[in-house]
Amino acid sequence: MTTSETTPAHRSTDHVDALRERMIERLWAVNALRSEPVAVAVRAVPRHFFVPDFPLEEVYDPQAVLRTKFDGNGEATSSISATWIQTLMLERADLRPGMRVLEIGSGGYNAALIAEVVGPDGQVTSIDIDPEVVDRARSRLAQSGYADRVEVVLGDAEHGHPAGAPYDRIIVTVAATDLPPAWTEQLIEGGRLVLPLGVRGFQRVYAFTHHGQDLLVGETGDHTGFVPMQGLGAPAPTIVSLTDQVALTTDADPVPSPGRLPEVFAEPAYEERSGVRIGRNEYFGGLQLWLATTLPGFATLSGDAEALGHATIGVHQSPAVWDGTGLAYLVLPQTSTDPDQWEFLARGHGPNATELVHRLVEHVRRWDREHRHGPGPRFLANPALPDAPEVIRTRHTRLLPLWDQRESPQVDWEADRDA
Ligand SMILES: C[S@@+](CC[C@H](N)C(=O)[O-])C[C@H]1O[C@@H](n2cnc3c(N)ncnc32)[C@H](O)[C@@H]1O
Repeated sequence: MTTSETTPAHRSTDHVDALRERMIERLWAVNALRSEPVAVAVRAVPRHFFVPDFPLEEVYDPQAVLRTKFDGNGEATSSISATWIQTLMLERADLRPGMRVLEIGSGGYNAALIAEVVGPDGQVTSIDIDPEVVDRARSRLAQSGYADRVEVVLGDAEHGHPAGAPYDRIIVTVAATDLPPAWTEQLIEGGRLVLPLGVRGFQRVYAFTHHGQDLLVGETGDHTGFVPMQGLGAPAPTIVSLTDQVALTTDADPVPSPGRLPEVFAEPAYEERSGVRIGRNEYFGGLQLWLATTLPGFATLSGDAEALGHATIGVHQSPAVWDGTGLAYLVLPQTSTDPDQWEFLARGHGPNATELVHRLVEHVRRWDREHRHGPGPRFLANPALPDAPEVIRTRHTRLLPLWDQRESPQVDWEADRDA
């Protein structure tokens, strides 16, 4: 990297303009940009001012996440999110001039985009729990001319920011696993809450609309991987170790006793093939969410591929089901007849292995028949929802997944092939 590349003032404007235009073209092509006001904002805000230590090519790559702070384990705690997810969330927020917006999780760049769309009559407040992030966001916003248009405050998102409420929109840019009451209370009726929500370990962007009496309906969006929430809303799943390298994660409440699960996991497995196949690059995040929201006793099995037998779904997380005496989980071996095809297979251990494996396989088959090509669930969120097997309980609210059929345009990276 040369000095001229790292010092914003010396960066070639023509070069930056060209990179930015190319990024905007790609965002339109993949459906992450959908409206002129958001495109105008991306053109107006100098993204490289907010991340001066990164190479320009990376800064203006729509898929690059620019990680800016790490914890002691090397995990990112703060970043400037990839532009595609920022524009997609702004589109889902349906921002209008004059709106009052709360951004949760600061960095400066996204808040500046919001400020451009809501204009001089709007109001943008950005809150972050980390004083260093707050200071940096303030100074970068000042350098790029947005100091008067965005207020950056220090605080825990759990409480929202009552001083600036009510908001027309709340945009959460850190992974949430719950909907704290403050967010609903500080949102006007008809207002939108856009957030990456992790439901039983699977994170998607949802746009919830506040319909009054704490009722929010969230449209499913795209798969994302935001940094985890810190503070009062930090995730606290129950993790049961099965071996040194394999663990079961559950949010079941009450938590079933792990009992003899580690011993049971070491016993020979019972297996059943599902007959449901997928191709090399086929996305099956919908299956994970389907199992997570409809399978009683759902959990996830995590560990590296070797520990899980070289055949798990993804390397780290496999959908599983457990009943306190044993468990079953999905693996995805290559088919013997076609090297480009994989077939879901369930493997189980314990006295009820046959029943658990069959339950898992039947759920996979049902997803294949009814939801494989659908947009995924919407969620109805309301703390007053009654107890029912299909209702997911979080600390603050209850979520009812609605697996109905609707059209919901998704980001399409196939369209970016020639990038
Ligand atoms: C992905 S970054 C924000 C990106 C930013 N909006 C941008 O311009 O791209 C997520 C931020 O959320 C912050 N955060 C984590 N937990 C929080 C909490 N409970 N309240 C407020 N901020 C939190 C982190 O400190 C981190 O800076």
